[in-house]
Amino acid sequence: MKAFDITDKEFKKFQSFIFDQAGISMADSKKQLVNNRLTKRLRHYGFSRFNDYFDLVHKPEYSTEKQLLIDLLTTNETYFFREPKHFEYLEDDILRSFRGSRFRCWSAACSNGAEPYSLAMVLDNKLGSGRWEMLATDISSRMLQTAQLATYSLQEADKIPRDLLLKYCLKGVRSQKGVMLIDKKLLSQIKFKHMNLNGNMPDVDKFDLIMLRNVMIYFDHDTKVKLIDQLITRLYPGGYLIIGHSETLNTVTKKLVMVKPSVYRLEK
Ligand SMILES: C[S@@+](CC[C@H](N)C(=O)[O-])C[C@H]1O[C@@H](n2cnc3c(N)ncnc32)[C@H](O)[C@@H]1O
Repeated sequence: MKAFDITDKEFKKFQSFIFDQAGISMADSKKQLVNNRLTKRLRHYGFSRFNDYFDLVHKPEYSTEKQLLIDLLTTNETYFFREPKHFEYLEDDILRSFRGSRFRCWSAACSNGAEPYSLAMVLDNKLGSGRWEMLATDISSRMLQTAQLATYSLQEADKIPRDLLLKYCLKGVRSQKGVMLIDKKLLSQIKFKHMNLNGNMPDVDKFDLIMLRNVMIYFDHDTKVKLIDQLITRLYPGGYLIIGHSETLNTVTKKLVMVKPSVYRLEK
């Protein structure tokens, strides 16, 4: 089969595209990865040059392909109970002292749903159904579709604490043999929505907790400052913002208090 080679000039165009669209600063080292990921789309359209594909996605009638390109250029790695200390902190500290009637939570780069469902299991187990609600958003339509299917491989269940696994997950049977299904009760309390964190913040209500983990690593400083400034306006006084362990808000904002590394709070 014919191999395709992206030129430096073509790669730069895709770099600018994903920066303008999603705020993602894509490193030069990703050139081969982009080459590999987009080759299938070139074949699909019978193109031999990446430029042709680039021009196509900019035509108004190809907006679905443009979204697919965004999906292909994002990194969606995630898993259940990733960075487990955050879920322990939620359970032992945040929820223990929660006195409101309904806890509102936002998973702001939710990927395939592993993060919002992990949160949902902890919230439901601790507060009971009806006392929490969640918004889960991502720029990738493909990931949002996967998330709403709420079915995962049995290996992915490995990281879920056993008591929560027994309470909220089912083993698929017949046509769903070999898959794990998330309890529909959790699904019904989560609103999945397409949202670009690099755009203007749509009208969303305030939250007790926003999780923004492992996405700012792709953003430059200015993009982070703008995003965090907007997210702060979506937090209730005393609300929490949790970011990934490898991320920091040190030079990004002074409006939040660091409770512990990667956990921030808006003062009451
Ligand atoms: C590495 S995953 C992290 C998923 C999850 N938060 C976690 O920590 O496991 C990053 C996610 O951010 C999403 N993303 C990247 N840029 C985005 C943007 N501008 N707006 C919304 N989501 C974005 C990607 O589609 C991807 O699903």
